[in-house]
Amino acid sequence: MKGNDMEDVYILAIESSCDETAAAVVKNGRTVLSNIISSQIALHTMFGGVVPEIASRKHIEKINQVIEDALKGADMKLEDMTAIAVTYGPGLIGALLVGVAEAKAIAYAAKKPLIGVHHIEGHVSANFIENPDLEPPFVCLIVSGGHTHLVIVRDYGEFSIIGRTRDDAAGEAFDKVARAVGLGYPGGPKIDRAARDGNPGAMTFPRAKVGDNPYDFSFSGLKSAVLNYINHAKMTGEEICVPDLAASFQNAVVEVLVSRTVEAAKEYGFSKVAIAGGVASNTALREAMQHACMDAGLSFYYPSPVFCTDNAAMIGTAAYYEYRKGVRAGWDLNAVANLRLGER
Ligand code: KG4
Ligand code: ZN
Repeated sequence: MKGNDMEDVYILAIESSCDETAAAVVKNGRTVLSNIISSQIALHTMFGGVVPEIASRKHIEKINQVIEDALKGADMKLEDMTAIAVTYGPGLIGALLVGVAEAKAIAYAAKKPLIGVHHIEGHVSANFIENPDLEPPFVCLIVSGGHTHLVIVRDYGEFSIIGRTRDDAAGEAFDKVARAVGLGYPGGPKIDRAARDGNPGAMTFPRAKVGDNPYDFSFSGLKSAVLNYINHAKMTGEEICVPDLAASFQNAVVEVLVSRTVEAAKEYGFSKVAIAGGVASNTALREAMQHACMDAGLSFYYPSPVFCTDNAAMIGTAAYYEYRKGVRAGWDLNAVANLRLGER
């Protein structure tokens, strides 16, 4: 066993908000001792997307094993943990309930404090894992399957939202376009891969314009333009070059995400930019943001792909800072499907 000094904080974190059953042990917020992810992707692929009830059933099957593997991987026991943390929203309600019920049972039986974590706060916190020098404040672009937010991270767990999507989330747009062009589920990684062999300038798709807030996003117009292109090609019997289409669509998304993020950092006077969420693992987004930040004299932070998509290590990191603030959940902790960022 590793030394469990009084001042060291070990958190067992559980994440089950969508289609990954995950558990991790995190030491003092930034050292990941284990990070176990049981993905259901193969199971949902046959349905072309996540089926909520199947996700819940799979979580209940896997969760004990995943937690046991996380403790084993860290070479620690439940009694060595300082606290138990769990994602309690937002996400699929039946999926969240599995993790919340499990965490409550463990915390109760082992007499450990319980910490409820906001899933998106977890995604943002993924940036702390491999960047020991990163501290708030900074600007963060959160791009996942369900969320597209541009936020100022004022302090640990404290956010000001300066922009959000008016319609589809960025990941949702990737998933819908991938499905329409026959790449299947999950769309993001498939478009990313196909785009590597394509020409991003081959087709011109609209860059979303939204009314009054310069930092809001909209992807439904772009998605419709791509779907129209596909339908038109099908009707006229034209062959679609999938790599070109993937690269051109991805280019349109990336351009908008990068330009707004860098503009926001400049306007609000922050020198650090981070990205978070599943779409943050996109190769083109990472490269374009890196270049734009360099040109603008900004420091750019990003998690490794494994910490961008859903995982429990990021939940353990977020929980550590909540723990330090004295935040504890009561035995009445419940799952909240539409939990908003900044809400408790
Ligand atoms: O953060 P995440 O794992 O789950 C949510 O909290 O939503 O994000 C999943 C989303 C999916 O829409 C998936 O297609 C997208 O992230 N994604 C990507 C890539 N990898 C995952 N999108 C673009 N490029 C990728 N490489
Ligand atoms: Zn997520």
